[in-house]
Amino acid sequence: MSNLNTEIERRRTFAIISHPDAGKTTLTEKLLLFGGAIKLAGEVKARGAARRATSDWMKVEKERGISVTSSVMTFDYQDCTFNLLDTPGHGDFSEDTYRTLTAVDSAVMVIDAAKGIEAQTRKLFEVCRLRDMPIVTFVNKLDRDARDTFEILDEIEQTLALDVVPASWPIGMGRGFKGCYDLFNDRLILLETEKKGELPSLGTPCEGLDDPKLDELLPAHAVAQLREEVEMARELCPAFDQQAYLDGTLTPVYFGSALNTFGVREILEGIGKMAPSPLPQPAKERSIEPLEKKMTGFVFKIQANMDPKHRDRIAFFRIASGQFKKGMKLKHVRSAKTLSVHNAQLFLAQDRATAEEAFAGDIIGIPNHGNLRIGDTLTEGETLHITGIPSFAPELLQSVRPIDPLKAKHLGRALEQLAEEGAARVIKRLIGSDWIVGVVGALQFDVLADRIRTEYSIPVKFEPSSLMTARWIEGDTPTDVKKFLDKNQGDIGEDHTGSPVFLARNGWHLNKAQDDFPELRFLATKEQTF
Ligand code: G4P
Repeated sequence: MSNLNTEIERRRTFAIISHPDAGKTTLTEKLLLFGGAIKLAGEVKARGAARRATSDWMKVEKERGISVTSSVMTFDYQDCTFNLLDTPGHGDFSEDTYRTLTAVDSAVMVIDAAKGIEAQTRKLFEVCRLRDMPIVTFVNKLDRDARDTFEILDEIEQTLALDVVPASWPIGMGRGFKGCYDLFNDRLILLETEKKGELPSLGTPCEGLDDPKLDELLPAHAVAQLREEVEMARELCPAFDQQAYLDGTLTPVYFGSALNTFGVREILEGIGKMAPSPLPQPAKERSIEPLEKKMTGFVFKIQANMDPKHRDRIAFFRIASGQFKKGMKLKHVRSAKTLSVHNAQLFLAQDRATAEEAFAGDIIGIPNHGNLRIGDTLTEGETLHITGIPSFAPELLQSVRPIDPLKAKHLGRALEQLAEEGAARVIKRLIGSDWIVGVVGALQFDVLADRIRTEYSIPVKFEPSSLMTARWIEGDTPTDVKKFLDKNQGDIGEDHTGSPVFLARNGWHLNKAQDDFPELRFLATKEQTF
């Protein structure tokens, strides 16, 4: 039993949130380097601009082997096991991003030191805030011209309404970047020229900022500036408070340069020390505690498998409590059926290995043929429904039809599967044979067309529709809803779970429906419940 507790308590399951180009991929690579998961920091995936060019991105999508394995990366460092979950980072926003954040216990926010808080960082931060998620901040690219340190701290504090505590303090910037003083561990860490195959050194332990060692190791003006700035920072910023960090109201801020593997060890050690081990998971019936003996968990992401000829998919399953063992018989709560899980996979950075065992906090991949859906809960028998996994009303709607009209039925089935996978929202109009496909980001249409063609052999055409938005319809009584549906049949569809959806042509149309039927709710977000 104590073994179970130790295993669970040493887990840190986290994600990196950032705006494209801030350095998430580079930081990920360097974290893996420290975790011993890769020897040389090779490519985790296509980089920066190249990755976001439609063609390359689609290539990455097609070579799904890569994106599946890099969706979760598990590695050990010192006493902890880290599970790093990739939040899909293409400029386009997808629901996957949000759902991934429901499967982590903390996040690292990467900020470009020259650019500060950018749009996507902010959007992702707001999602984290909804869950009061603890956040560690990494201010990256100090080797380039950066904003003033105080200005950066102030911007984080002001725009995100978070208390900030510097965990390290940069000495110089751009070409004059010398390194950082580690304020949490009193160490002077200087930027070194990278030695091939070697990790940067630990730095020099100091007895606080007055230590004469600093005067020996740094030019006089740099030491003077460091002492002066840190003194000021200590007056302006609160002291580090572990509870405030866990509550998501305070963020420790590290400075570094991922490209130079600088500041990476400190942030990794920081997560090990400060970040929470697996947290309780809310369910409809009760809260699930990670240290419970019985295994429970939920599916937060589905991904089509590498081989498009086989319809199998991988369900990304976060273990919420207990220990998973190979061959376990689990209750699939939505269908009340038993599922024997023999071939679940662990994601060890570059390899995949069969999961013999796994613990609360871990992510395992369960291959299946479509019986597992996003939001599904698996237990050792108890009926539990995990809550808090959101669905979003799509912001972009198009109608889709097969180029060969005889393939309409096949298309229907393909769309249904894609909807279950969470790749898009699919709405079947009540009247007519149209399928409406809704996505959150425009690029998703291209990806879908491509997938339907390659995986299902159905060439399709997406066409702009005159619809502006889709809203789930909810009322207190079925009669209320029925009245609305009867009156607006031409503007109603059903999503893949059979829930009614109002297809509004414009804002006025939506407002009018709301005015005429005040007893109904037109929802932009819905919780995944089955
Ligand atoms: P992302 O995943 O957040 O989109 O960012 P990514 O790591 O791909 O980094 C974006 C660009 O910023 C890359 O340059 C990368 O090399 C650079 N970068 C990351 N960290 C640092 C840093 O600490 N200092 C400096 N100077 N640059 C950094 P790129 O030109 O787009 O790609 P590449 O040609 O270098 O691969």
